[in-house]
Amino acid sequence: MSKSSPLVSILMGSDTDWPVMQAAGKALDEFGVSWEARVISAHRAPDQLAEYVRSAEAGGTRVFIAGAGGAAHLPGVTAALTTRPVIGIPCESKFTASLDSLLSIVQMPPGVPVATVAIGGGRNAGILAVQILAQGDESLAAKLKDFKKRLVEENLAKNKNIQKPS
Ligand code: RP5
Repeated sequence: MSKSSPLVSILMGSDTDWPVMQAAGKALDEFGVSWEARVISAHRAPDQLAEYVRSAEAGGTRVFIAGAGGAAHLPGVTAALTTRPVIGIPCESKFTASLDSLLSIVQMPPGVPVATVAIGGGRNAGILAVQILAQGDESLAAKLKDFKKRLVEENLAKNKNIQKPS
């Protein structure tokens, strides 16, 4: 088996999803995790999606992040095609306050899970992918510990902005 694929693959239904999806890539960059991004719609290019997912898995991709909006079947179909973990991102849709995207991704049948993050949750998808990869990687696990420490510091530093009204 060749190991030519990046650790994480970011898939999206359309380039209009990119503003959300690129936040996942940015988070992965912060931890030095390799990734690539592709537009391959489950509805508009189903054969190409199957070919890509199988080839990425064979090439060494460990986690898939997939985002789509509306009738958002890309994460679920990706999960049907691979045994790697799939993180789903509901992207904003024009109708139903994006609930169509969320429900299409989160309501997977037993046996085919998709770890669904919030609507527009690109950054959390990237961080969750890092956490999955850190299970077998001490260096990545150490980076996550530092990251959590920074979260604490940044949060507590906000106390300086809180003043009692005079
Ligand atoms: C989905 O349909 C895409 O994921 C996108 O969120 C939505 C609209 O696609 P475009 O019409 O902008 O290409 O497949």
